[in-house]
Amino acid sequence: MSSHKKRLPMRLSQQHEHWIYATGGMLFLSGLGWLIAHFFFAGPGEFGELHNHSEPWWLRFHGAGAMVFLMALGSLLPGHITRGWQARKNYHTGLLMLTIMAVLIVTGYGLYYAGDEATRPWISAVHWVVGLTAVVGLLLHVQLGKRSQKMRRVELADHIRPDVPNSATRAIPERQCTDQRRA
Ligand code: HEM
Ligand code: HEM
Repeated sequence: MSSHKKRLPMRLSQQHEHWIYATGGMLFLSGLGWLIAHFFFAGPGEFGELHNHSEPWWLRFHGAGAMVFLMALGSLLPGHITRGWQARKNYHTGLLMLTIMAVLIVTGYGLYYAGDEATRPWISAVHWVVGLTAVVGLLLHVQLGKRSQKMRRVELADHIRPDVPNSATRAIPERQCTDQRRA
């Protein structure tokens, strides 16, 4: 058996990228649907405010979205996240995304299993406020990541001289070149 292991690329395929947006979008829209139903469409009842009848449906949709999204997130770990982390590329917003995901997973778990009457509203508030900011975090992460990748490509193209063999490899620092070839 060969000991050679093929490393997964850091850069996502278009299909993989769309899969992240589709599952993340499902999670976000179902959470937003619940918030709108809960805060704007709760009806008055005999014994106080009644929950809107659509709330359980939004949560069913959200729970399904969470399961699929966590699979998508797991698929980023061996290639995208590990290699980006090692190369310190797009590091700050990558770290921000990891922190946001950790908070959402822990508070999501808390909503199911850890909250009592006093703590549940707090867990819920932290969960949805961080959930809403996740979209901004992801947009920023993708935008900055793609921009720096484009800049690296332009820089590499500037160093390539057709008349000099291996000109790009010589002109650009070793680590950057290795990253270029791997990505
Ligand atoms: C935690 C969740 C994360 C999500 C959901 C996520 C998602 C994405 C997506 C959808 C893209 C655009 C597709 C692409 O250009 O490949 C992207 C780009 C990028 N991400 Fe992440 N990412 C995460 C964490 C990280 C971490 C921890 C790092 C590294 C420290 C990282 C580094 C990068 C880099 C370098 C790019 C630009 C890749 C390129 O265009 O060449 N990401 N990310
Ligand atoms: C990794 C990502 C996420 C996971 C694992 C997750 C998980 C969960 C879980 C398990 C629940 C409890 C469902 C129930 O009680 O039946 C929940 C509720 C909720 N989630 Fe998320 N969620 C995530 C992302 C988001 C995002 C991005 C938003 C953005 C709007 C959001 C908004 C909400 C809201 C509003 C609730 C209802 C809170 C309540 O019942 O008090 N979640 N989530």
